[in-house]
Amino acid sequence: MATRALLSSPTSLYAVTPFSSIASSRSQLIAASPYFFLRRTSLPLISSSPIRCFAHLRIDAEEVKESVKEEPFVLTTPLYYVNAPPHMGSAYTTIAADAIARFQRLLGKKVIFITGTDEHGEKIAAAAEASGSSPREHCDIISNAYRLLWADLGIAYDKFIRTTDSRHEAVVKEFYSRVLNNGDIYKADYEGLYCVNCEEYKDEKELLENNCCPMHLKPCLLRKEDNYFFALSKYQKNLEELLTSNPDFVKPSFRLNEVQSWIKSGLRDFSISRSSVEWGIPVPNDSKQTIYVWFDALLGYISALLDDGEHPNLQQAISFGWPASLHLIGKDILRFHAVYWPAMLMSAGLRLPNMVFGHGFLTKDGLKMGKSLGNTLEPKDLVLRFGADAVRYFFLREVEFGNDGDYSEDRFINIVNAHLANTIGNLLNRTLGLLKKNCQSTLAFDSITAAEDNSFRDAVEKLVERARCHYENLSLSSACESVLEIGNAGNLYMDEHAPWSRFKQGGVSAEMAAKDLVIILEAMRIIAIALSPITPSLCSRIYMQLGFSEEQFKALSWNDTKWGGLREGQTMADPLPIFARIESKQEGGDEVIHKAVKVKKKTSRNQGLVEA
Ligand code: MSP
Repeated sequence: MATRALLSSPTSLYAVTPFSSIASSRSQLIAASPYFFLRRTSLPLISSSPIRCFAHLRIDAEEVKESVKEEPFVLTTPLYYVNAPPHMGSAYTTIAADAIARFQRLLGKKVIFITGTDEHGEKIAAAAEASGSSPREHCDIISNAYRLLWADLGIAYDKFIRTTDSRHEAVVKEFYSRVLNNGDIYKADYEGLYCVNCEEYKDEKELLENNCCPMHLKPCLLRKEDNYFFALSKYQKNLEELLTSNPDFVKPSFRLNEVQSWIKSGLRDFSISRSSVEWGIPVPNDSKQTIYVWFDALLGYISALLDDGEHPNLQQAISFGWPASLHLIGKDILRFHAVYWPAMLMSAGLRLPNMVFGHGFLTKDGLKMGKSLGNTLEPKDLVLRFGADAVRYFFLREVEFGNDGDYSEDRFINIVNAHLANTIGNLLNRTLGLLKKNCQSTLAFDSITAAEDNSFRDAVEKLVERARCHYENLSLSSACESVLEIGNAGNLYMDEHAPWSRFKQGGVSAEMAAKDLVIILEAMRIIAIALSPITPSLCSRIYMQLGFSEEQFKALSWNDTKWGGLREGQTMADPLPIFARIESKQEGGDEVIHKAVKVKKKTSRNQGLVEA
């Protein structure tokens, strides 16, 4: 079999490419396997930070055969089922993907950020019927609700694919035919227990009492069908080899163990068509069957690459950026992405994505928040009450990316107030207040001159480098933490140096105070860049308070986090609160209502402003 012969080609010698070192240039890649690229590495550069940063992996120049155009960084969210409107669980993956996409853009990569909706199958047809609409109308409405929510959350995606798009259909059919021609599709009878919510046949062993699905807590139904099957079992060895030679294919590493144990326990062929489901893409040459939703939806990651109006063909789509650099998914759909999908791609002779990252669940009272259990949190409400930056920040900062995290409103308010309103907002506001009062809002020094021999500058440089490494490694919460540490250090610097009293002393002391303000504002500028993947509009407001324009903010790159952006003579904007503190107020009985309000509270942190 062609596939096997290819896989046995030599793959030794090479360190596996983690997501973070994903090719910035095709010329840096060495095709050691037809499915995934491996890169030879030199020793990692020594970093002052203790964090291992994959971005330091380099390639031996002699291995570079030819220089070809830069490869894009393609990242995907799952394509969301349109059985119900989006909830906070669906928004979570997309917010994380957006932060990663923004970070990669700051690094100067050409990013293709793909999201979209998964619109075929039994579950969707049933939801449409229940709502009294045709499947098409129903899909239009819900798919649009996703787009609207992404806009509310400040999600800057590049491609939005709907699996009911006719171009997608053409790509799926072509892919199906390739797999068929490779001898990996056959017809057979199947009887098993089916979970409609998972859209998957289940193993009896994994079910709870009364054959209930452990995820959706609803009984699975006994189904018997004459279906087309995909010969997954043929790829057992190839998948084992893939994961051994490329352990970074599945992240975090504890999810890799899970995938390896599924494979080890033996892979069974799975059915890729349904005879009982009309709402789907017809199987080529058998219009009585439709293609199984997963075999259809996964191809959305490829068909999304097509541009509007292009003749829809698989090779064309591939040429626009396949393979994906990163599939971001929730842990419940790991098997589809880390087992089924690579086997399907191998069968079709296509390259594999570089990495599948399975994050944890947002939970409520310990149970997965979801449409099926009806215990969801409305992202739209959260955005309306607290703003997109607060929502984005809380979930990315509070939930360690990869693990589960529980939502609590009190925690939300405490974190957001402490970090965004106090540590960052208040520091900026009181520094600008002092600058206005004592220096007519104009910088008296370049930030480089102001920080000569200053250890605070060293600390900021280390922290921003650490944040970069955390972003590279998808440790989004730690990236937020490192940036916030700059804010904490800034507040400490302010309190220790007390520029308000130095201004009062005049002479050299006042000059030192003016330098201190430049130093803190330079740190603020760096925070605005380094936190911009997480809280883009807050960071743009910070940047504009520092006297820059929106265009200048949009044109920033990660290199601009280097110390030295603020120059003598630059005039700052009038100090305005950049983040509204969320206040709780008791209204009628015991009901507590929280909302974002612009209240100036006298805390020890704004002491400088009061005294100055
Ligand atoms: N349609 C499939 C994906 C096909 S991808 C080619 C699907 N859709 S889904 O709408 O059910 O789920 C989409 C994503 O949302 C999954 O990654 C899932 O893990 C995520 N989440 C849904 N609820 C979630 C939480 N409560 N918490 C975090 N993410 C969760 O599966």
